[in-house]
Amino acid sequence: MKPLSYITETFTESVIREMTRICDAAGGENLSQGFPDFDTPEDIKQAAIDAIRTGHNQYPVTFGEPELREAISKKVARYNGIVCNPVTDITVTCGATEAMIASLKAIINPGDEVIVFEPFYENYGPDAILSGASPRYVTLTPPDWKFDSDELTAAFNSKTKAIIINTPNNPTGKVFTSEELELIASLCLKWDAYAITDEIYEHIIYDGVKHISLATLPGMANRTITINGLTKTYSVTGWRVGWAIAAKEITQRIRKVHDFLTVGSPTPLQHAGVYALNLPQSYYQQLAERYYQAREFLFDVLVNTGFKPYKPKGSYYIIADAAALFDRLGAIDDTDFSRKLIERTLVATVPGSSFYSISEKGRYQVRFAFCKKMETLQKVAERFSKL
Ligand SMILES: Cc1ncc(COP(=O)(O)O)c(C=O)c1O
Repeated sequence: MKPLSYITETFTESVIREMTRICDAAGGENLSQGFPDFDTPEDIKQAAIDAIRTGHNQYPVTFGEPELREAISKKVARYNGIVCNPVTDITVTCGATEAMIASLKAIINPGDEVIVFEPFYENYGPDAILSGASPRYVTLTPPDWKFDSDELTAAFNSKTKAIIINTPNNPTGKVFTSEELELIASLCLKWDAYAITDEIYEHIIYDGVKHISLATLPGMANRTITINGLTKTYSVTGWRVGWAIAAKEITQRIRKVHDFLTVGSPTPLQHAGVYALNLPQSYYQQLAERYYQAREFLFDVLVNTGFKPYKPKGSYYIIADAAALFDRLGAIDDTDFSRKLIERTLVATVPGSSFYSISEKGRYQVRFAFCKKMETLQKVAERFSKL
């Protein structure tokens, strides 16, 4: 038989989603994958039911229902300070996941490089490879996950087509500061590179930090693709509604890719998204407050168990150094540790190596997702107390 595609040999299946399968089979507490174990707010669910009942059940406008694009443009003007035209600058996609790959496919040519910060959200490496680019990694270093400005400056070159930024960040919880974003912007301008920013955790921020959209920095509006979605903000990870905002010329290309990849994101859920995007400010405050409580609780549990966790400023993940617990579990590396942790405690986590281009860099790290009910986190505390 002729060989299957070479490109798909160069990356593995998602480790996070594999951990979820192992966890479900063991009947454990899933702190591996970033989805809530509590239900979506009633009024948001009702908006979806109403949309189905009122007949929004056929193909949507391929690049997004006009009402949703209108609601997105108003919300980003309000919250992010991004000015965009809903008619020409927004593509609604099947989650932020599709927005990222469609954006890369829209801009990449053979030989292009894409800069990715590591540890990274595990989709970015395969996304870059599938779109034909070579990823170039720049390290974020704990405890505050800063990058070295010389390393970033050296990563840019004439082949750099784009840089991917995820702020607030998964898995580190880093929220990029204005100084960091200014440096990134100046390098994009110097090397004529695009920026793709994944801002899916923009409302999940703590300790008074501010979320800044790179697209609002001088000179960046026309070269930034801003990605977001309903997914995390409204606790609807299964709905698959995301979007990419970009200048008209870039959007035209993203829309073409999107059309042939998926045709469209579910119509009724786009209409429910209009309701969600118009929720009052108090909704977002309550969301951040809920995750703040969960962060504080899990952080203390991890410290008391013997982990060395790094407190996130945003998103709903905690990376922890697990080296001090390796002997107790007889673990040799992060993957072995994660498997043994499920066996011993029925708590699932993600091995750190899945967030790095070189596994060794994540050898002692694991990631916990705390977008869970307090009861779930209390169960985790109980189980860890027996370790
Ligand atoms: C940084 C980041 N981007 C995108 C996604 C996926 O978004 P969606 O479910 O809207 O495709 C996730 C999910 O965990 C994520 O952490």
